[in-house]
Amino acid sequence: MQPTTSPPVSESPAQLVGRGVGEIDTPALVIDLDAMKRNIARMAEFANKHDIRWRPHAKMHKSAELARMLLEAGAHGVCVQKAAEAEAMAAGGVRDIYISNEVVALRKLARVAQLAHRLDADKGRLAIAVDSVEGIRRLAQAMQDTRAQHKSEATIDVFVEIDVGQGRCGVEPGPAALVLAREIKEHPALRFAGLQAYHGRAQHVRSAKERREIISVAVQDVIHTRQLIEAEGMPVELVTGAGTGTMVCEAASGVYGELQAGSFLFMDADYAANERDPAQPQFEHALFVKTQVMSVHADHAVCDAGHKSHAIDSGLPKVLTVGTESELEYLNGGDEHGILKPARGGTRVPALGRALWLIPGHCDPTVNLHDHMIGVIGGLRDGIVEKIIRVDARGAGT
Ligand SMILES: Cc1ncc(COP(=O)(O)O)c(C=O)c1O
Repeated sequence: MQPTTSPPVSESPAQLVGRGVGEIDTPALVIDLDAMKRNIARMAEFANKHDIRWRPHAKMHKSAELARMLLEAGAHGVCVQKAAEAEAMAAGGVRDIYISNEVVALRKLARVAQLAHRLDADKGRLAIAVDSVEGIRRLAQAMQDTRAQHKSEATIDVFVEIDVGQGRCGVEPGPAALVLAREIKEHPALRFAGLQAYHGRAQHVRSAKERREIISVAVQDVIHTRQLIEAEGMPVELVTGAGTGTMVCEAASGVYGELQAGSFLFMDADYAANERDPAQPQFEHALFVKTQVMSVHADHAVCDAGHKSHAIDSGLPKVLTVGTESELEYLNGGDEHGILKPARGGTRVPALGRALWLIPGHCDPTVNLHDHMIGVIGGLRDGIVEKIIRVDARGAGT
């Protein structure tokens, strides 16, 4: 029997390149590349002005291509949160990586040590955070094993994490951090690189004044801890920390030498709800979920993007309003649906088939739901698809 040729079930994303935005099927994760590049330029300018290094967090975009773009714009390296994210970045050509998180499982530490060795051999660098003596000893053992295996002298940079008020990882500022710095110095494969002082909870405190107050306390904790450690003859070369919400405070502190902010690249709806600090660069939304109206009713419409398309931990997405369009509110419709209602007493529901753009509440877990992001230039109305950006570290959770 003659084989029949059936039409392709779905197009490969690469086929979209060069085509109009209107041809992007929904739901899809789309980057407005023009807006993203403006965000990068503003961040680079801010860091230059404050003479501070920036090491944007790749936990957010999870893409080696975007990490390379940030490095070309002047970023000092990347932060990641997981060993597997570090491996994905290294596989994509990034050679200066900081795991800004604790790793204690022996199985994972063996991978961390192998990666430290590979990057060292490639004139790159791996760094990691610690908050326990046991964690330091395990890391040191893994590094020793790898050194013996490769007959090398590779080292890894180690940052002592202090808890400046987040109540997550990190030891108390002060003597507890000194104990860890001393322990690091005991191990030839470990290099004491400084302190990590990141205050996650402060990032989404809405009031700019309150964020400043919180970080000023963190700065005092850092100064005190640094003095204690340096009094024992151990230089604290670098203090690293900060997210998009507080970076202006750490940058102005004179104490932090490196900013880890990551979300400035895409600016999600939750960050946009913060009162903007006057010193903060004007970052724009650059990440959207394109969706389409699939069902229309007297008082609401339904679109095809639910929480399999965007994370809802930091609130539901906002619907982008363009020009004189009437505002729409997005309500939870479940896994595959979103309910759209006219906002603020409006009456018009969107027409069947209409395309809409959602601004995700939280960019990090939204990106992790997608295999790729569609990069568009020329705007969301008339633009074209320039490139497909892979989410290399999607699901890289170990
Ligand atoms: C340790 C650490 N540094 C930096 C960041 C980046 O913050 P943001 O993406 O909010 O700018 C995070 C985010 O959770 C983090 O956990």
